[in-house]
Amino acid sequence: MKGSENKMEIIRKVKEMQEISDRLRHEGKKIGFVPTMGYLHEGHLSLVRKARVLSDAVVVSIFVNPTQFGPGEDFERYPRDEEGDKAKLEAEDVDFLFIPEAGEMYPSGYQTHVEVTEVSKGLCGDFRPGHFRGVATVVAKLFNIVKPRVAVFGEKDYQQLLVIKRIVRDLNFDIEILSGTLIREEDGLAMSSRNAYLSPEGRQKALSLYRSLLKGKELYETGEKDASVLVKAVQKSVESTAGIVLQYVEIRDAETLDRIERVGKPSVIAVAALIDSVRLIDNMILGR
Ligand code: PAF
Repeated sequence: MKGSENKMEIIRKVKEMQEISDRLRHEGKKIGFVPTMGYLHEGHLSLVRKARVLSDAVVVSIFVNPTQFGPGEDFERYPRDEEGDKAKLEAEDVDFLFIPEAGEMYPSGYQTHVEVTEVSKGLCGDFRPGHFRGVATVVAKLFNIVKPRVAVFGEKDYQQLLVIKRIVRDLNFDIEILSGTLIREEDGLAMSSRNAYLSPEGRQKALSLYRSLLKGKELYETGEKDASVLVKAVQKSVESTAGIVLQYVEIRDAETLDRIERVGKPSVIAVAALIDSVRLIDNMILGR
């Protein structure tokens, strides 16, 4: 708790987490929540710091959610490091770490899912069928378990952020959703737990995503507002690096994710690509 010397408590059961959250709320404490899948990096920790400043008690969850991975995706090999994560969170003065088992979140007979129909379409939704249904479901469950007043999500997963804002609006969760800016490595690579899969050569190739987005942004800032021209420039730049399979480059309205023809309001250029079969996403906001 802010200003206290308490050690971080590890909670593995849903019921126990709910009881703790009820007690905190009863004591008038504002709960700040950062859901994660672990293997934490500076991007996650920046979200934790944001939650720390805005709340009295910080809860972080680590749960590699099986329902958001499709068949053939990396659920089994998703990087995990519980001890390392605990040490990082303790150093950030986190109060509670919620780490449930899959059977605790999805007991046998489980059959309820949350689906955000429109915002989940296109972009990553086209390449990962069922992904956002899994994300929306687990986040709604986590909200009911942790009962936060504020929750923080990264802008790196931009479509996910808008899916979550939509759930909160549509299902009347009384939670303020805040976002944290995308954090990059020194050379510009967007931080991601999946960067751990990259070979040194793959990591060099992956930098093309950042460089290409930067090109698009520079073009926009020097006067180009036609979305298709900007998209083509980014596409061409990504495709000039051998060994990258581009999935999409798109420019969408940053608030609604609607398709746009001209960049007037804040917009997001989003890209997804496979580098040596590792799927990476990145984005940049234009006009903010
Ligand atoms: O962004 C993530 O790490 C996950 O998609 C989330 C929000 C924790 C849900 O499993």
